[in-house]
Amino acid sequence: MKRVFSGVQPTGSLHLGNYLGAIRNFVRLQEEGNESLYCVVDMHAITVWQDPAELAANTREVTAAFLAAGLDAERNIIFNQSQVAAHAELAWIFNCVARIGWLNRMTQFKEKAGKNRENASVGLYVYPNLMAADILVYKATHVPVGDDQKQHLELCRDIAQKFNNDFGAEVFPLVEPLIRDHAARIMSLRDGTKKMSKSDPSDQSRISMNDGADAIASKIRRARTDPEPVPDGTPAGGTRETRPEAFNLLEIYAALADATLAEVQAEHGGKLFSEFKQALTDLAVARLGPIGEEMKRLQADPAHIDSVLASGAERARAIAAPVLDEVFRTVGFLRP
Ligand code: AMP
Ligand code: TRP
Repeated sequence: MKRVFSGVQPTGSLHLGNYLGAIRNFVRLQEEGNESLYCVVDMHAITVWQDPAELAANTREVTAAFLAAGLDAERNIIFNQSQVAAHAELAWIFNCVARIGWLNRMTQFKEKAGKNRENASVGLYVYPNLMAADILVYKATHVPVGDDQKQHLELCRDIAQKFNNDFGAEVFPLVEPLIRDHAARIMSLRDGTKKMSKSDPSDQSRISMNDGADAIASKIRRARTDPEPVPDGTPAGGTRETRPEAFNLLEIYAALADATLAEVQAEHGGKLFSEFKQALTDLAVARLGPIGEEMKRLQADPAHIDSVLASGAERARAIAAPVLDEVFRTVGFLRP
């Protein structure tokens, strides 16, 4: 059986990269009829400082985004991580399985810790172990994520394999990443070499899932491009490497239109960017507008969101409990 798990951090406004790289794919997997768990990873969020009131609001916002994008809370299990203690319990075991050398290679830690590594939280360092626990406590087999999570999923496989080898038991499956080539890495609107990110100080760098039509229009209008016309697929049109901003806008268009890059180039190649940006604005407003509206409607009723999370957590605990029990017995912990 295919069991899908994915997580999103409640650390700020969700953006087009989160939507196209991750959340939209969750909705597609639901159409395939998979048993899936989607988790708002509040315990990962606090590996860097979070204001408590904002953390709570952001947890509800991510939940609202899941629902507004089309995830059904009956057919899927939607919950926040801290309500299911099994994640933290398995993470401790994994802290004792993963090697320091493995964690030292994690590029996300290096990026997030920055220059002052001594001052980063210990939680940030062992973040990938908790992520492996999120997935493996449900024996999940498939994990839809954006490209930036590839290395963490490789570590998850290493942990599963080492655990199985060390204890001579086939407890954990080897997880498959589900990374679509398309839109796996949406770049900043201000700098085509940086990924679109919640933590970018410039709000102009990203389109938020709940931006209104005016905000979307002004961000796309001001998005960085170059003086050349829209790439048309010929060598003269350049490449992703030579024209990262131009190709990023084309890829956003293709992802929103559910078209290939070649199709978009056939339609828009050679046009002036001012004209293409207008078409992109119309498309983005048509796709994101209804989701943003629905998010607002849902967020006006926090009690409903909290009840979705509570019942999701209850269902998640029921799946995790026997797995954790098996792991503890395998390790040699006494159980009643
Ligand atoms: P995060 O916001 O880091 O919790 O990411 C949530 C999900 O969105 C993960 O699956 C990420 O890989 C994905 N994601 C984040 N930023 C981008 C981006 N710029 N392009 C594509 N996917 C992204
Ligand atoms: N690390 C992921 C991110 O930053 C979020 C995450 C936490 C996750 N646990 C997970 C993603 C488990 C997939 C599966 O995007």
